Amino acid sequence: MSQSLHAPASPRSFQSVLVTGGAGFIGSHVIRRLLAEHSTMVLVNLDALTYAGNLANLKDVESNPRYHFQRGDIRDESLVTQLFREHAFDAVIHLAAESHVDRSITHPLAFLETNILGTANLLNVARQQWSERRCMETSLFYHVSTDEVYGSLGAEGLFSETTPYDPRSPYSASKASSDHVVRAYHHTYGMPIVISNCSNNYGSHQFPEKLIPLMIRNIVDSRPLPIYGEGINIRDWLWVEDHAAAIDTILHTGWVGDTYNIGGLNEWRNIDLVRKLIELVDAELGREPGFSDSLITFVKDRAGHDMRYAIDASHLEARLGWKPSITFEQGLTSTVQWYLANGAWLEDVTSGDYQKYYEQHYDNR
Ligand code: NAD
Ligand code: TYD
Repeated sequence: MSQSLHAPASPRSFQSVLVTGGAGFIGSHVIRRLLAEHSTMVLVNLDALTYAGNLANLKDVESNPRYHFQRGDIRDESLVTQLFREHAFDAVIHLAAESHVDRSITHPLAFLETNILGTANLLNVARQQWSERRCMETSLFYHVSTDEVYGSLGAEGLFSETTPYDPRSPYSASKASSDHVVRAYHHTYGMPIVISNCSNNYGSHQFPEKLIPLMIRNIVDSRPLPIYGEGINIRDWLWVEDHAAAIDTILHTGWVGDTYNIGGLNEWRNIDLVRKLIELVDAELGREPGFSDSLITFVKDRAGHDMRYAIDASHLEARLGWKPSITFEQGLTSTVQWYLANGAWLEDVTSGDYQKYYEQHYDNR
């Protein structure tokens, strides 16, 4: 069965949506946005609550009658089947993943298991359930992926939807594999799917293992700021709420079988971004300019460190009309202010429980 690309006749409307990984960074923003924007949509958040998932990220919506939380693993076939039977989902937004490149270098199997097998399990259950209910055509499986599947750029050029896949870390290889499996279910079984590949996100509620929240935390505490290699690697940063808005747009108006790159043409060398964060945090804390400069510490480079990511999002803009809503200056300032005002959140997510989880879950994998 070969599937052709087609636009929805009119914007879709979904009543019952399974969101995986909703207690994580991006997932929590997606849930908050969809509840606010779609007044009849019911959302079930399936999340294993690994070290990266935290219900504190969704405190403001937990009593909403249209929101339900289920702790569980996306690889659990009987649990996912039971949820489909109970809630008759008409869409899945799949975000659950192991998401940190450095962890994928030390514990690759955990990434392959969750990101590939977990995605395959969700697809398989969705296929069975939507076939049984004879609602395949009106359903949608939305797979949230990353620009890292395209590999690493030199000084010139941008990733477009037709850039060949060339993943180079266990994380990006696992995401690339999952993208392929999603497309295979579309072409082989006629499952309606969309995929988006976004650039690096920043914003509130991001676990402080990733560059921006880690650096903000260390600047506040006057701890060393570890810059891998020479700090010349480039990332293309997008505000997480703009990513959530793009996901909302693609869910409702994206063409079936299509892929959308998401990004805001906002490239920064790591060292320049860290200098900018020092400036913003020191100013917020009333410190002298340059107060934290000496914290910059160049450390051993990440193995296989991708040099540059940069996204061409013109397909998404031309076809569906999405654009970023704020500048990096605005987004970064509000992000810094959020972390400064939410020290208790940072303490909570990095407490002893997190350490214990990490040791048990990742040991030997
Ligand atoms: P995150 O690590 O903050 O959150 C991942 C969530 O998935 C957590 O709540 C975790 O508990 C849950 N999870 C992990 N394994 C699970 C399992 N086996 N079963 C159920 N739940 C599980 O990640 P994020 O940064 O919010 O990323 C979300 C998605 O977006 C991922 O698929 C990631 O590849 C993609 N993405 C992220 C970025 C970024 O910059 N953060 C950019 C582009 C794409
Ligand atoms: P990260 O936030 O881990 O995202 P990704 O690897 O998915 O792009 O890292 C962003 C960039 O920052 C990347 O080039 C690696 C670099 N980096 C550091 O230099 N020091 C750090 O402590 C971390 C976590 C990242």
